[in-house]
Order: sequence, then structure tokens, then C-alpha cells
Amino acid sequence: MDPTANLIDPMNLAESLEALRTSTISKVAEVQDLDGLATVENEAVGRESPIAAARRGLGKMPNEDRSDAGRLINEVAKQIEAIVAMRRDELQAEAQEAAITAEAIDVTVDYAEIASGRLHVIQQVTDEVCDIFVGLGYHVAEGPEAELAWYNFDALNTPLAHPARLGMDTMYVDYGDDEDGMVLRSHTSPIQARYMETNEPPVYLVAPGKAYRNDTIDASHLPVFHQIEGLAVDESITFSDLKGTLAEFARQFFGSGTRVRMRPHFFPFTEPSAELDVSCFNCDGSGSSCRVCKGVGWLEMLGCGMVDPNVFEAVGYDPDAVTGFAFGMGVERLAMVRHGIDSIRHFVDNDVRFLNQFPG
Ligand code: PHE
Repeated sequence: MDPTANLIDPMNLAESLEALRTSTISKVAEVQDLDGLATVENEAVGRESPIAAARRGLGKMPNEDRSDAGRLINEVAKQIEAIVAMRRDELQAEAQEAAITAEAIDVTVDYAEIASGRLHVIQQVTDEVCDIFVGLGYHVAEGPEAELAWYNFDALNTPLAHPARLGMDTMYVDYGDDEDGMVLRSHTSPIQARYMETNEPPVYLVAPGKAYRNDTIDASHLPVFHQIEGLAVDESITFSDLKGTLAEFARQFFGSGTRVRMRPHFFPFTEPSAELDVSCFNCDGSGSSCRVCKGVGWLEMLGCGMVDPNVFEAVGYDPDAVTGFAFGMGVERLAMVRHGIDSIRHFVDNDVRFLNQFPG
């Protein structure tokens, strides 16, 4: 800025102060940022400004003019400072507004999608089966996977000489003082014994969990698989209760038209024992060139039977006071039958193209 441009003429004080005031007002209005405003302010009323020069000039004035001139200078200086202050507020507000806009997050902008996991189909089927039985008044129990041989075998009427006790089928865990030893449970049935040992009848439970067998992997075997155990013990439970309960389960799980049949079987801990088949949901039991049941019309589903009195005795129940039924089903098998899955290996391959087909 030209330092003489706004020089205050002491001979023409009022006029030149007015000129400074109006020129400063228009500069203040034009200025677009706080730094520019500080410059304009400094040029008008700062230490090197015409106002400061005029104040210094007061001393040379005749006494009688001095106080009027001083008042006039101060008035204009105050007005200029007031205008600068207003503009400063304005510019600060604008700067803040701009910062808010610049830093704002647009919540409508597309974001990088984070893939979320889902329950494994085996867990989904487990939950579904348990839900069906909870709906029938059962509750859910669990037990340890490393299990004393007593619960896995002895309490379940499976004597030492039983072939299933040979290392061939069962994986033994090499620790524990128990003379019987400890195993990776070969079925979920030990949960029956554990539960009855510590709970009085009546009992209505389902118990899901992993089971372990020394099996070679093929299309229908894994050394680690999943079962769901069922147990009902009460004062007058009959074989018809067993069949009716499993028929109701089959209808809820496979569809309302599903029929069931039982074939005699053997389990050490049930007597009589049976295997339950369900009518093939794919061909409705006709069997004609059906790829799901391979033409049989029926699908083998689970093992079951009436609880053997020796089991009641082992857990401290009176076999003359209560009766009961038990069943055990393989979760992989349920899932394979339900979804037409051709190999049990798919469940553990961890191929998302397989797993994504079961969104849950
Ligand atoms: N535990 C048996 C098995 O794993 C299934 C079963 C359970 C059979 C309960 C009868 C009663 O094959």
C-alpha cells in the first residue's frame, strides 16, 4: 500500500479521517481471509498507520484544537476497529464452515464390504435338531470330549470284552489314574450316564457334541464327527413313546409327509434296540431310480432303543421304578441326507464354495 495514500492532513482532519474510514470499510468488505484482514487493520490503525501518525501529530497542534482533534481520531479508530472485529467474526465462521464441509463423511458413499462369517452347516443342523426337541419339552446338556472309559463304556453296559472297546475303534488318551483309562468319547452316549448320575428322574434331554473314532476317512467316515444324543426317562415310558417322538422329529426335520420304520438292531445300552429309517424325501419312498436313497425308498437315520436296566443300575436309578428310551444320531448324516451331499469330506474341506451354499 502506498504509505502516503491515506495520510491524514492535519489541516483537513475531519475530511481525511472520513476518507480513511470509507476506504478501510470497502477494503474490509473485500478481504477474503483472516491474514488479509489483519493487514488491512494494521494499515489503518496499526503502529505505522495514518491514525498513529495523526496521533503523533497532535502534539504540534495548537492547544485549543488538540482535544477535538484527538476525540475525532479516536472515534474513527474505534469505528474501524469495530468493523474489523465484525468481519473477523464473519471470516472465522466461514473458515469453520469450510472445515466442517471438507472433513464431513458421506455416509451414502459405497464402502469396502467386510465379509461376515456364518455358522457351519453342521452347527446349523445341530441347532435345528435341538430346537425341535426343545419344542417337545427337552433341554440341552453337554459333556466332555475326553471322557473316562467308565462313562463311555462301563456305565453303558459295555463290558471290557466288547469289540468296540478295542483300540481299533476307540482313541485312547494316555493319561489319568483311572485303571480304565480315558478315551476321546466314541459317541455322545456317556452324557446320558453323566447326567443321570447327578440328576433325579424325570429326564428329557438332547446332548450335541463331537465324537471320535479310529476310522479311515472315506466318503461316509471321518475320525471326528458330530452326534446328538437323546434321553427320556420317566415313570411309564414305552417303546411307542420312542417311535412317536422320533416320527414327530422326522416330520419336523424332513417334512410333514415323512414316514418312519424301525429295524431290530443291537446296542449294549438299549434293549430292545432299533435303527430308525425315514422315507426318502426325494422319491417319497417309491425308490424308483432315486439317487438319494439309491432305489431303497428308505434312509437310515439313527440308532435307538429302550434304556437297558443295567444302565439305570450303573447310574443309581431304580430299574423297577423308571423306564426310558435313548437315541443317537449323526449330524453329518442328517445334513448329507437333507441336502443331498455326496461325501462327508465336504464338511471339513473348508471350501467356501461349498459352505456358502448354506447361508443359514
Ligand atoms: N451311541 C450309539 C452310536 O453311536 C447310538 C445310540 C444312542 C443308540 C442311544 C441307542 C441309543 O452308534
